[in-house]
Amino acid sequence: MVDTRHEYARVADAYLPVALVVFAVVAGATGYCLLRWRARDGQDREASRRHRNAPLEIAYVAALAIVVAALLTLTLHVEGREDATARQPALRVDVTAAQWTWTFAYPGTGVVQEPREGRPTTLVVPAGRAIVFAGRSADVIHDFWVPDVRFQRQLFPGHTEHFDLVFARPGTYQGVCSQFCGLYHQNMHFDVRVVPPAAFARWLGLRRAAPA
Ligand code: CUA
Repeated sequence: MVDTRHEYARVADAYLPVALVVFAVVAGATGYCLLRWRARDGQDREASRRHRNAPLEIAYVAALAIVVAALLTLTLHVEGREDATARQPALRVDVTAAQWTWTFAYPGTGVVQEPREGRPTTLVVPAGRAIVFAGRSADVIHDFWVPDVRFQRQLFPGHTEHFDLVFARPGTYQGVCSQFCGLYHQNMHFDVRVVPPAAFARWLGLRRAAPA
């Protein structure tokens, strides 16, 4: 299973050269036309009245359509891999976003992570494993964003959004709500603590034994 950060980095790597080539072609053609057909001293030429060059325009549209189709296919392919496709997820986590907190529940265990003593909620997950998330909002639209894995997904009221994430390496990452959701939107953070699988199993066992 490829980690989520790598998947999205691959998409970004494909977009950049394509964008650079398109930019070079447009800027080059514009510059060439400006220099080649500029008005010169003593010349009193009228601009062309020809307003249409069908073969050129069809070629232009076809080329752009091919580029867009290729990028769209790649993007949807990767997106599809993130949409809860793991056949045997190591873990399921229910995410609830509400003004202005995050709650992470581990179904079947009774363990629920909530904000404590003014600290943002901590999502604890095992490294290198596929985790299936089921995300909901209790009120308005929020957005689950973990910049380090390049993953962002909107959560709506009255709808459950499923997605898979794989965090490659242990560490602590920041999670953010990236959809303006009211007065304290800017405080709506969470922490992601990624630990080795054995440490995760220990943590879950301790949390079950001694609910906070
Ligand atoms: Cu929730 Cu912004």
